[in-house]
Amino acid sequence: MSIPAPAPHLSMTSSAIALRERARSLGVDLENLPQHIAIIMDGNGRWAKARGFARLLGHREGYRALRGILLAASELGVRYLTVYAFSVENWRRPQDEVMGLMKLIEQAARDELRLMHQNNVRVNITGRVHEVPETLQRALREGMETTSTNTGITFTLAVNYGGRAEITDAVKAIVRNGTPADEITEEMISENLYNPHQPDPDLMVRTAGEMRWSNFLIWQSAYTELVVSEVSWPDFKPDHLIEAVKTYQARVRKFGAVVE
Ligand code: IPE
Ligand code: IPE
Ligand code: MG
Repeated sequence: MSIPAPAPHLSMTSSAIALRERARSLGVDLENLPQHIAIIMDGNGRWAKARGFARLLGHREGYRALRGILLAASELGVRYLTVYAFSVENWRRPQDEVMGLMKLIEQAARDELRLMHQNNVRVNITGRVHEVPETLQRALREGMETTSTNTGITFTLAVNYGGRAEITDAVKAIVRNGTPADEITEEMISENLYNPHQPDPDLMVRTAGEMRWSNFLIWQSAYTELVVSEVSWPDFKPDHLIEAVKTYQARVRKFGAVVE
């Protein structure tokens, strides 16, 4: 696809300046932002049910919310955003919901590519992507190729992702290389994950109140700060993201050490 290259970001857009100013006024330290934010976008189904809508309509609204949060994270100056779109366990859902989600992700990947490229977003994927429908794989691949040299936020979509699956795949790769058991290190496992060059998430946000990881980035989030929002994902707005960042900034990260 021929899409014009992103405008060189020599100066910040007025929308970015306004959002950063708003974050500052709400108490966010812009010099100390989480470098990598991961989000478990949960609550689409409950959001729809509460309104008497089909679950898929909740997913559609969720995708709209994602557009706003991706742009907000990018404007704030976050370097990596990783979002959970479909887990390896989500195949257990009714087939029409699963197929609807696959179609929705594909449509979103195609429809949003221009906007992402114009905003200098680098698109990336994580998960057992080879197991999703071929047309979705193609749309995701096209997104990654088109934006591969962009220098703004790295946006990673987790599709057919499971943390245990990822660790299992890493161990298989290490064993396949003939590495002796005694030489296996934590660094080696990290290097064999799907995105070895990304820093671990600093902040993991889960929406809709559930306090669990649901198999998301379980290796990488060993020391990630978890912030749970009661807001359902379709209602999650840039101000909620700013609030989560503020909560993160009030935490003391100790990594097992004594911090006075
Ligand atoms: C999250 O919303 C989206 C996916 C898991 C694909 P849910 O569909 O899990 O929403 P709830 O948890 O049923 O409300
Ligand atoms: C996690 O949410 C997966 C995604 C957000 C894609 P789930 O709704 O599937 O998690 P559980 O089932 O409540 O743990
Ligand atoms: Mg859920």
